[in-house]
Amino acid sequence: MATYDVHNRSAIVTGAGSGIGKAIALLLAANGASVIVADRDAAGAEAVAGTITAAGGTAQPFVGDVTDPNFAVACVAEANALSPLKIAVNNAGISGEAALIGDLTIDGWRKVLDVNLNSVFFGLKVQLPAIAENGGGSIINMSSILGSVGFPTAAGYVTAKHGLLGLTHNAALEYALKKVRVTAVGPGFIRTPLVTANMDESTLQALAAKHALGRLGEPEEVASLVSFLASDAASFITGSYHLVDGGYTAQ
Ligand code: NAI
Repeated sequence: MATYDVHNRSAIVTGAGSGIGKAIALLLAANGASVIVADRDAAGAEAVAGTITAAGGTAQPFVGDVTDPNFAVACVAEANALSPLKIAVNNAGISGEAALIGDLTIDGWRKVLDVNLNSVFFGLKVQLPAIAENGGGSIINMSSILGSVGFPTAAGYVTAKHGLLGLTHNAALEYALKKVRVTAVGPGFIRTPLVTANMDESTLQALAAKHALGRLGEPEEVASLVSFLASDAASFITGSYHLVDGGYTAQ
């Protein structure tokens, strides 16, 4: 696997205590970044930061809720204290209530929009100026294939992930000349607790068959793309949406 160097900078990864965020935190740290392992789950954040430091990398667990704008501010300060903040991966997310729109509760709608979309605005609001002040860098927002197509019973999730693409376009345009690149990533279904906790094996197999490659993705396959976008190797890439979906949306 190619290594994209990210030494001499810090990275915030939200939702880094599990699944895709964990794989991203481990890979960015292996590639040289000092990583803020941000998650509301203390045990997960501590375990991931511990794995990084045991391997000789630099990481700090940072516990909080991304729906709290003050947590976003604190993450930036914590990151800058390690090394200049130049990378942010806004990855924390939930699957949300599964229901047809007619049955979806108002609270369920608000919750998934808050965690999966509003939190990214709270993050960008402080990450963009901070990274610009440090001379530039890269922000990656974790959308989904469901940022470009629908999925019955997931209206809130689908709306949040589509919304992230608009937010990514605007952030990229507003901060391009300040050397902050902003991109979005769209994974297909990836084998993480977010997916496996809610589905039995036959549902997972049916889901796997919807991908041209005939299987679910692995967190490391998303981390690989993110590590490229985070690095200076992606220096002419901004405002764009990058699928890592095993051919799901090609059909
Ligand atoms: P996961 O459930 O394995 O990990 C999510 C992490 O985010 C957990 O550690 C959780 O504690 C944390 N988190 C959730 N809400 C939080 C909050 N309010 N504040 C702080 N931390 C919070 O899920 P997974 O699969 O790794 O998902 C990561 C991102 O990737 C999400 O945005 C998800 O929507 C997206 N994604 C996942 C796909 C999949 O198939 N697993 C496909 C496409 C996108």
